[in-house]
Amino acid sequence: MKAKFLPVTFLALFLAFGCAEGTKVTNASASPSTSSGAKDNAPANASQPKNDDAATASDTSSDETNKTPANEEVTILQAKIDDTIINVEWEDNEAVKALKEMAKASVITVNMSRYGGFEQVGDLGQALPRNDSQTTTAPGDIVLYSGDKIVIFFGSNSWSYTRLGKVTDKTEAELKALLDKDNVTLYLSLAAETQPEPSAKKTLVAYFSVTKNTEAIAKHIAKHTAATLFEIVPQTPYTAEDINYNNSDSRTSKEQNDPNARPAMASGIENIEQYDIIYLGYPIWWGEAPKIMYTFLESVTLKKGATVVPFVTSGSSPIGSSAVNLKTAAIAAGWLPGKRFAAGTAQATVEEWVDSLKLN
Ligand SMILES: Cc1cc2nc3c(=O)[nH]c(=O)nc-3n(C[C@H](O)[C@H](O)[C@H](O)COP(=O)(O)O)c2cc1C
Repeated sequence: MKAKFLPVTFLALFLAFGCAEGTKVTNASASPSTSSGAKDNAPANASQPKNDDAATASDTSSDETNKTPANEEVTILQAKIDDTIINVEWEDNEAVKALKEMAKASVITVNMSRYGGFEQVGDLGQALPRNDSQTTTAPGDIVLYSGDKIVIFFGSNSWSYTRLGKVTDKTEAELKALLDKDNVTLYLSLAAETQPEPSAKKTLVAYFSVTKNTEAIAKHIAKHTAATLFEIVPQTPYTAEDINYNNSDSRTSKEQNDPNARPAMASGIENIEQYDIIYLGYPIWWGEAPKIMYTFLESVTLKKGATVVPFVTSGSSPIGSSAVNLKTAAIAAGWLPGKRFAAGTAQATVEEWVDSLKLN
């Protein structure tokens, strides 16, 4: 191959929505614009929470929430646009605390107005504590404007706002479909959340990644499946020159051309036989799995009946025969066909794929 590829809580919701009694209905008014609605091209996963964070919809603003053990209910601020529940990562600030207090009293219903071709804005009916600062918003941002108006962006604007939160489970196109129209209603209510029930099946995400594209996907999978994350780290790290695919003498060129190459790992994994499901991630190198993946698989004995789910990232190549070839190193396990992701694939897309497998 010539080097021409591209650079490369589940929520138990007891929703109070639609509760007629005590429902507040407020009206919209416009927020100003200083831009012509030019989009901020921040990637959809630009503010992705860390792997060990709690589920994205949770409001982690209270100490009580942070200390909650598994399966115990906590209340979270739940948002819905018309009929669509949206996951929001809320800010930990006084404005959001006040919003939660408002929602405690009754469901907050905000009649929104589209403004400027980039936002929906509506009156909250009461002022919240402000901490305004000059902000350039991105699609999905939720802010407080002028103290008593809530704004949700499907585009971008620059103004002085107090940040309230960010929608984490919708793409820019999905936000536009939800928000770039008339008669939008936002509902904010308190909902109960339980921490994920640990799956009866134990899941491992083992991955190798040099430039961290595969690592990002691995973390999305681990977060969604509450899996153990294991990085296959080479004893001798790959330098930029090592991964130079334009040089036929580079370390990777030589390793990939040598059927017997088994680059050493810095450390192995313990007790791999406890895992029922093993997501196995690697970058495509010259159409194949990096040789260290063979080192890894040949160094372990998988649980009888374990399922291996390969996933890869690449510039453009498909997973191809890379996983079928790798399977020879762990034939006892059942291997699923696997999936190729582009670098930077959003959490929601990865979750959709994981859910479609129906393994957990
Ligand atoms: C030595 C080498 C060979 C590669 N070969 C291919 C290839 O055959 N096809 C392709 O689409 N991308 C290829 N790539 C690009 C990587 O698959 C891609 O950048 C991947 O996302 C890197 O993953 P990582 O960031 O987890 O290391 C190659 C990259 C390197 C360093």
